[in-house]
Amino acid sequence: MKDTFKALQVTDDVYWVGAVDWSVRNFHGYLTSRGTTYNAYLVLADKITLIDTVKAPFKDELLARIASVVEPSKIDYIISNHSEPDHSGCLSEAIDATGAEKVFASKMGCKALAEHFQLKGITAVADGEELSLGNRTITFAETRMCHWPDSMVSYLHEEQLLFSQDAFGMHLASYERFADELDRSLLDEEAAKYYANILLPLSNFVTKALAKIAAMNIPLRIIAPDHGPIWRKDPTRIVEAYARWADQQRTARAIVVYDTMWGSTERMARAIGEGLAAGGASVRLMSASSVHRSDVATEILDAGALIVGSPTINNQIFPSVADVLCYLKGLQPKGLIGAAFGSYGWSGEATKQLKAALAEMNVELLDEPIKATYSPTDQDLQRCYQLGVKVAGTLKERFPQPAETTA
Ligand code: FEO
Repeated sequence: MKDTFKALQVTDDVYWVGAVDWSVRNFHGYLTSRGTTYNAYLVLADKITLIDTVKAPFKDELLARIASVVEPSKIDYIISNHSEPDHSGCLSEAIDATGAEKVFASKMGCKALAEHFQLKGITAVADGEELSLGNRTITFAETRMCHWPDSMVSYLHEEQLLFSQDAFGMHLASYERFADELDRSLLDEEAAKYYANILLPLSNFVTKALAKIAAMNIPLRIIAPDHGPIWRKDPTRIVEAYARWADQQRTARAIVVYDTMWGSTERMARAIGEGLAAGGASVRLMSASSVHRSDVATEILDAGALIVGSPTINNQIFPSVADVLCYLKGLQPKGLIGAAFGSYGWSGEATKQLKAALAEMNVELLDEPIKATYSPTDQDLQRCYQLGVKVAGTLKERFPQPAETTA
């Protein structure tokens, strides 16, 4: 395979030796609609070092790319920055194939690798510890909960290169390995989607990690994450986007999430959308049965309002709407305003349940839920429209400045 799967040179001494997964579409509930990459890196120092591995089915691709540069048996060290199986799933096989003298992970990484993969004998490195590779030096920094308790980053001083594991990554399969080779709007979209779906509930930890990296006072010439392209031109741009996203800065934009049984709740959603737009808000209507929950999550990253509508089915919220709400609740968005609405034929419990669900998410409800029986009347639709106008007015008061939304 080494004549087919080649390493790609990142700097004089650093090579990308990861794998491209064009077909994966599910990353624990997140729709990875453009696939992903599992990035691993080879540092050709006196002590040849492999940084992270790949998801288990891609082990041969990893080893082939390594072999295109150096015989795998020449690898001295392996560093595991993150124990999740997309990066450590073939670590055991990589240790066997390389005969690496030492494998390094954070203290929590050693625990996770032992419990997840029954891997013993990993050397724990401390936060801030330096590792000499002979003619090169790496400093480790723990970045707990960015994404798992074990997460750490590794900084290669001589190249001013940060191996950032999950942080600053995106799920995007491509043969372009550098961000500057890809369309900016594509990068913005996928980086935001990744943050919203993976890191949003961990934003406090992201803020701490960013402060820690800033306190290291290190030049950042290149950021090499474990997913998606490498940032080699203006890497601070993605760092600044993370600071903004972690701060959960909101805008005068409203998301209306709904589903419908016979079209009534959808008509209400459309009337609310008209009111929001007339009131000057930016609006996105998202039918829960025609969009994926992870796309709603992306929209919530910088929206200021979440308005949710559902018909009542068997005394409950419509399942597609419940799915989205359950997912969004887990992502813990902060600082949203919102409202609930829905049509019903018999008992109409859904709007009450929506109100309770939004309250549990600490969404500030601007009004009581709007309910319509069977088919909404003109009066019902006018109430929906007015709700939209009211939400838009509040959004414009609270978020008068358009926020930067790009990476
Ligand atoms: Fe890419 Fe948290 O694993």
